[in-house]
Amino acid sequence: MKNFRKIIFDVIDSTQIYAKRLIKEKKISLKDKIVIVAKKQISGYGRFRRKWFSPEGGLWFSIVFSPKISLQKINQKLIPAITLSICDTAYYLLKINLYIKWPNDIIYKLNSKYKKLGGCIIETQIFKDFYFVIIGIGININNPIPKKIRNIAISFKDIIKKDIDTENLLDNFLIQFDKKIKMNSEILYKNYKKKSIVLGKKVLIKQHDKEIYGTVINIEKDNSILLKMNNRYKKILSGDLILLT
Ligand code: BTN
Repeated sequence: MKNFRKIIFDVIDSTQIYAKRLIKEKKISLKDKIVIVAKKQISGYGRFRRKWFSPEGGLWFSIVFSPKISLQKINQKLIPAITLSICDTAYYLLKINLYIKWPNDIIYKLNSKYKKLGGCIIETQIFKDFYFVIIGIGININNPIPKKIRNIAISFKDIIKKDIDTENLLDNFLIQFDKKIKMNSEILYKNYKKKSIVLGKKVLIKQHDKEIYGTVINIEKDNSILLKMNNRYKKILSGDLILLT
């Protein structure tokens, strides 16, 4: 992959933690785009620092680089670029249609049930004149899904009933991602909204200290959601979204 330098591990604590180490030890320059891939993670984590189960067979990787866009715009640009690149890769390679659940879950629809196929987190390390972004992506590919979460999670292998080449999937994702981050934000945002399964739906948003019920009116350009609650509107910046309808 000409634009990305790959570092591959058999086992690692977490590709996110490794990426942060590269930054701390000044082993990455502002021009680098590095992808850290692990066959297995011991301490993989997801949003809100939840444990992310990462056994062999899945695709677990982090992309680290210094974006040229302002910090305020990263959610607006990167969340659509990442999630759409996963959807497009799945369609291009496997003819599988995937969807996006705000903010950054990758979803497969099975008999009108939504199941999580993957997710991503975006972390930053900020310095005086620049910053690095560390994008962590986890996709269930050939890894077995534990019995207790099979009603909410799925793998590519469960869908197409055969093993998938994870390296080929990663390379295709990187080609897509490289194209998408250069795209116009408005177009990206429109395509992201088309793939969203939350617009117009009644939802429950769980935040650490409260629960908010409402209907999703819009996903705003800064990737917050606009929720209608009885007769008032509320902008939601983060949380866990549970579909009620
Ligand atoms: C989510 O909460 O849905 C996001 C999960 C992100 C998991 C990936 S796996 C590769 C990278 N390394 C980690 O420790 N986490 C991310």
